[in-house]
Amino acid sequence: MPCRTVLNIIDLHKRYGQLEVLHGVSLEVKKGQVLVVVGPSGCGKSTLLRCINGLEPIDSGNIELNGGSITDGKTRWNLVRQKIGMVFQSYDLFPHMTVMENILLGPLKAQGRNRAEVEHEAEELLERVGLLDRRDSWPGQLSGGQKQRVAIVRALCMQPEIMLFDEVTASLDPEMVREVLDVMLELARRGMTMIIVTHEMAFAKAVADRVIFMDAGVIVESAPPDQFFENPASERARKFLNIFQFTGVTKEEQTDEKNGSN
Ligand SMILES: Nc1ncnc2c1ncn2[C@@H]1O[C@H](COP(=O)(O)OP(=O)(O)OP(=O)(O)O)[C@@H](O)[C@H]1O
Ligand SMILES: [Mg+2]
Repeated sequence: MPCRTVLNIIDLHKRYGQLEVLHGVSLEVKKGQVLVVVGPSGCGKSTLLRCINGLEPIDSGNIELNGGSITDGKTRWNLVRQKIGMVFQSYDLFPHMTVMENILLGPLKAQGRNRAEVEHEAEELLERVGLLDRRDSWPGQLSGGQKQRVAIVRALCMQPEIMLFDEVTASLDPEMVREVLDVMLELARRGMTMIIVTHEMAFAKAVADRVIFMDAGVIVESAPPDQFFENPASERARKFLNIFQFTGVTKEEQTDEKNGSN
């Protein structure tokens, strides 16, 4: 069971000009834990992830990684970001580099690691996501789902302590969503520490150790998935989940539910 705290966010406030987007968010992530963050559009989910890996400066509060503050102004972000892997909605592979070159770039250039060793690790990871035969392909030759799986491998190859995923399936065609979600489920099974922002509620229920429901820049609920999805404590969460029953569930998931599986 999870024990050591990997990431600790304490009373985080973030504003864009006059607009305060995060109003005192506190969150603890233990080693091996999978947190899934859900909430309405604009509630601050992406902003939270962007603050965690230093893409946005924070206004007050503190973020600690492995017990040390990364928001005290002394942070060397190029080092910290090696420990925090992030995958976004848009897969940002370099188009002029092959799959393997894309993956090797960070470990070789930023971490100065041995090429043969990293290449071996990259091949193992590509195998795990079913893309070893694509190691020498160009990004332009891959489908969206394949590109997104390469983006995940690229982040994993840096050997991060924690992975952040921001709606990584949102721009994929429905038939490619599953293959990417399966990779994340497999990572969870292997004990990767993760924060996942998603609108895929059936996936959230399956993968989460804890669901964080945000609304208007605050954490409204933090609960185990069964409790959150079956018996949410707040009216706001109930409304949010109701909307999803009508708009957010795919046909495939509706059929799964009727068949009694998840
Ligand atoms: N760079 C920016 N400058 C100004 N305002 C911003 C900026 N980025 C985000 N915002 C605002 O901050 C709020 C939170 O945005 P954020 O992207 O974190 O929401 P979200 O929960 O990720 O939404 P979605 O589910 O649509 O991705 C929104 O009101 C948004 O308009
Ligand atoms: Mg977002």
